[in-house]
Amino acid sequence: MTERASLIQIQDITKVYRMGDIEVHALRGMSLQVGKGELVSIMGPSGSGKTTLMNIIGCLDQPTAGAYFLGGTDVARLDDDQLAEIRNRQIGFVFQNFNLLARTTALENVELPLIYAGTSDRRQRAAAALKAVGLEDRLHHRPNELSGGQQQRVAIARALVNSPSIILADEPTGNLDSRAGAEIMAIFQELNQELGVTIVFVTHEPDIAAHTRRIIHLRDGRIAADEEVANPRQAGEHVYVGDRQTVFGKSLQELLTKGNNAR
Ligand SMILES: Nc1ncnc2c1ncn2[C@@H]1O[C@H](COP(=O)(O)OP(=O)(O)OP(=O)(O)O)[C@@H](O)[C@H]1O
Ligand SMILES: [Mg+2]
Repeated sequence: MTERASLIQIQDITKVYRMGDIEVHALRGMSLQVGKGELVSIMGPSGSGKTTLMNIIGCLDQPTAGAYFLGGTDVARLDDDQLAEIRNRQIGFVFQNFNLLARTTALENVELPLIYAGTSDRRQRAAAALKAVGLEDRLHHRPNELSGGQQQRVAIARALVNSPSIILADEPTGNLDSRAGAEIMAIFQELNQELGVTIVFVTHEPDIAAHTRRIIHLRDGRIAADEEVANPRQAGEHVYVGDRQTVFGKSLQELLTKGNNAR
């Protein structure tokens, strides 16, 4: 196996939630490395600690004990401003329920992270991100005027618009039918294979996890198995959003290379 720089390095972390007198041990000692450019899925029963782990990886929460290094930086040493900067610039988040602003158009939803980042050509970049996920003809639709799969693609465009090096997704296909789920997997595989974006996502569906090279199984706050998938499924063939070559490939590439972040 070739050596890769470990982008995500987790060393023996625990997470204890305290609620009054009660302690919930969500993570019970977990070590994990994810290299730059990996596409990883996380599976496990409800309550096994998947979201807790994702929140820590995404710098939304800190472990109770243990260490987390992101790109070699000890996350525990960062102050709130530095954490916010990392979340905005380096990480794109995608959630099960899309988390779009309801009375706001697709374009405005995607512009939001650019406003926080103080980017100048916001409208143009947001439109490019929506084009990259095949939604150039839905720019002015509000979430309730879009299908579930389209809403999730808006959320992915929003996650991509700052050219992050990592995408974290907590059950991104959980509310979608299998066809819309395949579209999301096609976008993830393309981002990962063509553009080298590191992607970690949670799923309950073995068919979805089968699109990744590596499946990490959690159980009771621990890693129960870390499985290599010999022949990951390719989602591209099932996608019906325009012509994959021209709709995704080129415009995703343009979007991410136009980004001003050093990747
Ligand atoms: N903020 C919180 N306060 C207290 N306990 C929590 C909190 N968040 C999660 N927990 C508990 O920690 C454990 C792990 O929760 P987590 O959300 O990480 O599970 P999960 O694997 O994502 O489950 P699911 O598949 O249902 O989303 C659970 O027992 C949960 O009840
Ligand atoms: Mg969860």
